[in-house]
Amino acid sequence: MPDGAPAHGAFPAAGRRSVSRYHAGRPASGSPLLEARSVSIEFGGIRALSDVSVRVEVGEAVGIVGPNGAGKTTLFNCLCGQYCPARGSVWFDGKPIDGLPSYRRARLGIARTFQRVEVFPEMTVLDHLLVAERARRGDGRLWKDLLNMSRVRRDELDRIEAVLGLVGLADMAATPVGALSLGHCRLVELGRALCLEPRLLMADEPSSGLDTGETAALADLFRRVQQEKGMAILLVEHDLDMVARVVDRAMVLDFGELVAEGRLDEVMADPLVRRAYLGRAG
Ligand SMILES: Nc1ncnc2c1ncn2[C@@H]1O[C@H](COP(=O)(O)OP(=O)(O)O)[C@@H](O)[C@H]1O
Ligand SMILES: [Mg+2]
Repeated sequence: MPDGAPAHGAFPAAGRRSVSRYHAGRPASGSPLLEARSVSIEFGGIRALSDVSVRVEVGEAVGIVGPNGAGKTTLFNCLCGQYCPARGSVWFDGKPIDGLPSYRRARLGIARTFQRVEVFPEMTVLDHLLVAERARRGDGRLWKDLLNMSRVRRDELDRIEAVLGLVGLADMAATPVGALSLGHCRLVELGRALCLEPRLLMADEPSSGLDTGETAALADLFRRVQQEKGMAILLVEHDLDMVARVVDRAMVLDFGELVAEGRLDEVMADPLVRRAYLGRAG
């Protein structure tokens, strides 16, 4: 737990260079769900993130965009506990979570999907969700599951079937994940994250491998879980149409620095952002 970690709402504008800030229509409340302050990390002397601050309100959908190599996945890894930032602190639901391993952060209500799909080819779709469902309850039966000794209960099945219906995989419950397309594997990952009933769903490039129709359906799904379940969403995504459909507010990273934040159309019109994306000033 860091000394001198900030009180809520006390963060000054971060960064060595100025960040373009645009009002995003939704006023910041006094108690964010997730708050990261001045997170910095480097690899072999190269700064992957420099003083990046993030704030996600309860139930808010926030997009993180930026060119390849900007540090988006690294930021996710710092927020979820896969990486330990060299500097900065991360708070969730009013408490510092620095130093907590990923599984403890998941139990607090932070679930994520990965840019490179992380599934087990021989396990069925249902099994993937079952492991997540039992991890959410944390009832200590996981070791039995690994030994295949524990039967699926009716209430577990009901919850899993509801999530399978939500992500559109109801017909594939018994299919080994190795037989699925990349797009369907992404939906398995998303279903697994939803089984944890997170308060914050973090998705890293979820539309990769999906066609246009699947991407639109996915965007609708994110909106639904946000609106119906009150889930906050942090979305890293290169498909700007999808970002526009899902988020209330966007942040732009470039070379590990936050360069702009606000409404997506406003930040994308920012000359610094256009230069980062298009290689020229707009
Ligand atoms: N584990 C790591 N070891 C070394 N370099 C890394 C590691 N993780 C990320 N990086 C570097 O950090 C930078 C940002 O990468 P990344 O966060 O994956 O970017 P993005 O997701 O925006 O495309 C890149 O230069 C990448 O090579
Ligand atoms: Mg990435």
